[in-house]
Amino acid sequence: MIGPLRLEGKLTIITQKTNVEVYDFDFDLFFQCSHPYHWQDQHLCVLRTGAISDYQNRYEEYLARGLRLINSPEQHILASELPAWYPHIQDLTPRSVCFYSFPSVEEISESFTFPIFIKGARQTSQHNPELSIIRNPAHYADLSLRYKNDPILHWQKIVLREFVKLAPASGSVPGKIPPSMEFRSFWWNGYCVGWGQYWYQLPSYSTVGIEEGLALAQKAASRLNVPFLVIDVAKTVEGKWIIIECNDAQESGYSSISPQVLWRNILEHIES
Ligand SMILES: Nc1ncnc2c1ncn2[C@@H]1O[C@H](COP(=O)(O)OP(=O)(O)O)[C@@H](O)[C@H]1O
Ligand SMILES: [Mg+2]
Repeated sequence: MIGPLRLEGKLTIITQKTNVEVYDFDFDLFFQCSHPYHWQDQHLCVLRTGAISDYQNRYEEYLARGLRLINSPEQHILASELPAWYPHIQDLTPRSVCFYSFPSVEEISESFTFPIFIKGARQTSQHNPELSIIRNPAHYADLSLRYKNDPILHWQKIVLREFVKLAPASGSVPGKIPPSMEFRSFWWNGYCVGWGQYWYQLPSYSTVGIEEGLALAQKAASRLNVPFLVIDVAKTVEGKWIIIECNDAQESGYSSISPQVLWRNILEHIES
């Protein structure tokens, strides 16, 4: 097993360095950590080992070793796959339709007008605009070919979403979708334990009404009721807040949130 540690005697975390700067965190540098090697009675733990491709198997593997991951396999899917979370928060997020194979242009034109947002049921290809924003029918033909060869996208179900104009953040990130007023929030059993700007690559930004955005995230978090959850919200050009997506917090990068503060807040919600 990889790097299990006990944080301040309260929470067990299994970590592995992923070399993704916005994801990794050296717990030993900031917290009192012990390194137990034996667990029993389905001891609660959190996985911080990057993207998890076979959650069900990993969950069972850990259970057999006495450890119970914070999110059940069902909760993991509910948090990370759009077709699972969408029905619960349909009224809070852009209209979306899921496809198992590429629909024809005629089919998509019936339900959407260009530009159309496209992503896998879990994620985009690293925010590449060429593979996420369908400008017109000709671009769709080209995009669908590239989509099928993209290592991140090809295995995912296809989701089309109404394209919503988001309030822009100033600055840009090379090769990425134009950044907007988007914020990431972390939820631990329904409590917000951290939030901050989503586009961590940019200088700090803020906007009026952020508390409205967080209230929306809270509503989504309470409907999904997943123990360790991430909700991303953004402000539209009209000043309305929407949910962009949800994720299993075990797999999520910290964005601009201080991991030290986040884990400290989580520990405060755990009885010793
Ligand atoms: N429906 C939409 N309309 C317009 N922009 C969107 C829409 N959905 C997402 N975006 C923009 O695209 C970015 C990436 O989309 P997201 O769903 O978060 O993909 P990923 O799972 O790869 O992070 C978001 O951060 C947001 O800026
Ligand atoms: Mg995202």
